[in-house]
Amino acid sequence: MAAALRISSLLSRSLASSTYSLLSNGRICGAGRSVVCSYTTAAALEKPITPSVKVSYTKLLINGDYVDSASGKTFPTYDPRTGDVIAHVAEGDAEDINRAVSAARKAFDEGPWPKMTAYERSRVLFQFADLIDQHTEELATLETWDNGKPYEQAAKVELPMISRLIRYYAGWADKIHGLTVPADSPHLVQTIHEPIGVAGQIIPWNFPLLMFAWKVAPALACGNTVVIKTAEQTPLSALYAAKLLHEAGLPAGVVNVVSGYGPTAGAALASHMQVDKLAFTGSTETGKIVLQLAAKSNLKPVTLELGGKSPFIVCKDADVDKAVELAHFALFFNQGQCCCAGSRTYVHESVYDEFLEKAKARALKRSVGDPFVAGIEQGPQIDSEQFEKIMKYIRSGVESGATLETGGERIGDKGYYIQPTVFSNVNEDMLIAKDEIFGPVQSVLKFKDIKEVIRRANTTSYGLAAGVFTQDIDTANTLTRALKVGTVWVNCYDVFDAAIPFGGYKMSGQGREKGIHCLTNYLQVKAVVTPLKDPAWI
Ligand code: NAI
Ligand code: MG
Repeated sequence: MAAALRISSLLSRSLASSTYSLLSNGRICGAGRSVVCSYTTAAALEKPITPSVKVSYTKLLINGDYVDSASGKTFPTYDPRTGDVIAHVAEGDAEDINRAVSAARKAFDEGPWPKMTAYERSRVLFQFADLIDQHTEELATLETWDNGKPYEQAAKVELPMISRLIRYYAGWADKIHGLTVPADSPHLVQTIHEPIGVAGQIIPWNFPLLMFAWKVAPALACGNTVVIKTAEQTPLSALYAAKLLHEAGLPAGVVNVVSGYGPTAGAALASHMQVDKLAFTGSTETGKIVLQLAAKSNLKPVTLELGGKSPFIVCKDADVDKAVELAHFALFFNQGQCCCAGSRTYVHESVYDEFLEKAKARALKRSVGDPFVAGIEQGPQIDSEQFEKIMKYIRSGVESGATLETGGERIGDKGYYIQPTVFSNVNEDMLIAKDEIFGPVQSVLKFKDIKEVIRRANTTSYGLAAGVFTQDIDTANTLTRALKVGTVWVNCYDVFDAAIPFGGYKMSGQGREKGIHCLTNYLQVKAVVTPLKDPAWI
């Protein structure tokens, strides 16, 4: 099987001239870039492609069964291309969280999951990864339909990343173990790594399946059980994936999926007394709320992966064409709906004018349209709330004196499409440079020297990621050490291998996901101390 593509592999496509005919069995339009060549062409939005996948799973998954919510209530999930309802989904609330936590509690306390050998658990995860690969088309279709992201991105990049990550953690399952520790006295000292128990997990809508995998895979590898609350905007793909997880041999009750809203289902999970650990991805604002709920209930440990306002720094030695392409990708990827979006593009004054002209031209060339159409780079924003939020920031940018170089308008009259937008003359006092816009809005800022750009880049309450674009090793080293962020990408962006830890400094979060570091979120370390009688050695 071909190796998983990196997210950044999407970069090179933007300049490719060939048309794509990917993965479709005739269902997804084979039209190439020439049909929708720039965002001024709204024609492709008029007749959205009808996905042929059937929405089969709309109920809550509790104790291995798909069940109605206790209240019998449902909520609609919408197609961001049109605003039409895709399906009505069971709406979980506190009572459903109770039922899900009871199932997870029983599956943890009585087994079989934590009592299976680590090798047996790893085999379930490996099997799950294989099933993900076998069902890429259905999963990617649901993901695009519910979220609006380009189908090619979902199918060719995200799904392979997901199965890769699951295999990464499957590989860890039987390699997690403690130490025998030398003592100062005749004692046998062991450290034992135990699963932490029932993990409560709350995920957002920008990468629904990827976030599902980032949360569930390490928790399961460590032997925990899970109650996961998906985002109300995108409940469909996780319900489908959870079916595959059970097909792979996961015992009932080990993973429970509750669809529903944040202040009801989400808050009930964060404050539940029987949940032993909470992992959250979403806004900084909600991160603060769930941290308080965890503290006020049973003081469960919390990991948070929150917002960002990541600088992307183009130094004076930059190859401007490459820098433009990478900065464009860093911001516009996934409709700009990335926590780590490079949303403050700092450009050295010596290359600023050239950069700006080319960045504007690149944004104008970005293909926006029905995300099911091959070659489309940008689909609609997730929903009307996010759409309005982004449009408000665009107005704020204009009002605060930034120069609107291109874009700034909606595209079409239905759905949530926004023109790729570029602002220049941005400074750090403006809201567009302070707040997480979470949309296709690039802000370009000019700088003179490295010390200055370090100070300005760090002038934010966030600290998730940064991009550095330079050929000078000394400049790169200076910047990578000085930037107060969890990830620095040098001459690349959004490289998201399973083994690379990800997380934020400052108000971008607490703890790390992916890689070896994520395992510690899901393990307790127990010290066991026993006196040694007449030991041969200590
Ligand atoms: P949010 O943080 O409110 O939602 C994320 C998850 O938290 C969802 O599952 C939601 O149902 C849940 N949630 C909401 N309120 C809750 C509560 N009181 N208790 C427990 N769970 C709760 O984010 P939202 O409203 O979808 O988007 C708002 C902004 O957040 C975006 O515009 C963007 O700036 C940022 N965001 C950041 C993400 C990231 O990857 N770090 C992902 C999504 C949004
Ligand atoms: Mg939806």
